[in-house]
Amino acid sequence: MNEIMHLVGNRPQFIKLAPLYHELQNRGYKQYIVHSGQHYDASMSEIFFQELNIPKPNVNLQVGSGSHAEITGGVMLALERELQKQKPSLVILYGDTDTTLAGAVATVKLHIPIAHVEGGARTHNRDNPEECNRIVTDHLSNIIFCPDRSAMQSAEKEGLADRSYLTGDIMYDTFLSVRGRNNISHDEIILMTWHRQENTADKDRMRSILRFIQRLDGRIVCPLHPRTRKYLREFGLWQEAVDIDNLEIIEPVGYIEMVSLMNRAKLIVTDSGGLSKESSYAGAKCLFMLGLDLWDDLVSDGWIVKVDPQEPSSVNAALAFANQARHIPEEERPKYYGDGHTAAKIVDLLERHSLI
Ligand code: UD1
Ligand code: UDP
Repeated sequence: MNEIMHLVGNRPQFIKLAPLYHELQNRGYKQYIVHSGQHYDASMSEIFFQELNIPKPNVNLQVGSGSHAEITGGVMLALERELQKQKPSLVILYGDTDTTLAGAVATVKLHIPIAHVEGGARTHNRDNPEECNRIVTDHLSNIIFCPDRSAMQSAEKEGLADRSYLTGDIMYDTFLSVRGRNNISHDEIILMTWHRQENTADKDRMRSILRFIQRLDGRIVCPLHPRTRKYLREFGLWQEAVDIDNLEIIEPVGYIEMVSLMNRAKLIVTDSGGLSKESSYAGAKCLFMLGLDLWDDLVSDGWIVKVDPQEPSSVNAALAFANQARHIPEEERPKYYGDGHTAAKIVDLLERHSLI
């Protein structure tokens, strides 16, 4: 059989790739890693390959940054050539970025089967660019691996039940493999990340986020995504951010450091899809700075509380929630995302369906 191709290009995709790459490697499969080049700084890309022992990508399509259409179109064009050359037996896609979308559209037209890791998840809001990417990718995939019950239900509602499987969250596999490498000391910090388009495209929105976090009680450590750094500068808000007493802005960190920060956190403040879910693995509750319901169970449990930094009543509720924050011991954490053996389940399913 020809090689299995993985298409990745964004930070969270490298984290999702690691356990699946290793599981396939252990079972003797030939693999070929394509990096779209959507993320390219060493701190957004290379460090994850090194730390998670993933070999260097076989090829980098070097799409770089641009508009949605530029990234999607650029990846499609370069990937099509790669697919024609390599003729993989299967293409594995991850998550919901423009790289994922481009992979789905280019691959399906060449009649190559597609597997979608972290499919089914829905925010039910098409203004959210990732939502559009997930919908298209799921509908073009031959098999969909859902991280939770709610993703399964969404896939079923869209008529995808025959190809969707509840496998748990592959990021939990990665989290567990890294957690053991850290010393643990809790409750020291508030961990913050911030990068979504909805929270960086508008100056007023960015300023209200800065005003909101100043009111949080505790030291905030914020590994800042390059997108956010860029827009804070463009909107003339950089100095205001730097001047916030309780805020420590640092460069994006690798995954080992990130898990260490999660373990030190009493609270996580983020707009990251991945980190808001990981908060339940690390035992720090989450203030989610987007009006989207991505992880329904964690929202209905009260583990994730949404905050609109532009809405005073929402800010007050969030501050009350933050004041109660403390490290939650393992036995009290919600467990909605599988048992940490998602990669093995995915490979079992691929074998059972003769896709590899
Ligand atoms: C992308 C995904 C988003 C995901 C995120 C993970 C899309 C539509 N968005 O958002 O779903 O949550 O990745 O982190 O695919 N930049 C750098 N260096 C880099 C990468 C980016 O400086 O290595 C800067 C550039 O100025 C770029 C901006 O960040 O224009 C945004 O990058 P882009 O890849 O378009 O989107 P992300 O915000 O990273
Ligand atoms: N992450 C990391 N270093 C950082 C910030 C985030 O390793 O400096 C990890 C985080 O723990 C999670 C993943 O990157 O596993 C989430 O990626 P991101 O927030 O960029 O994207 P999203 O999940 O929103 O798609």
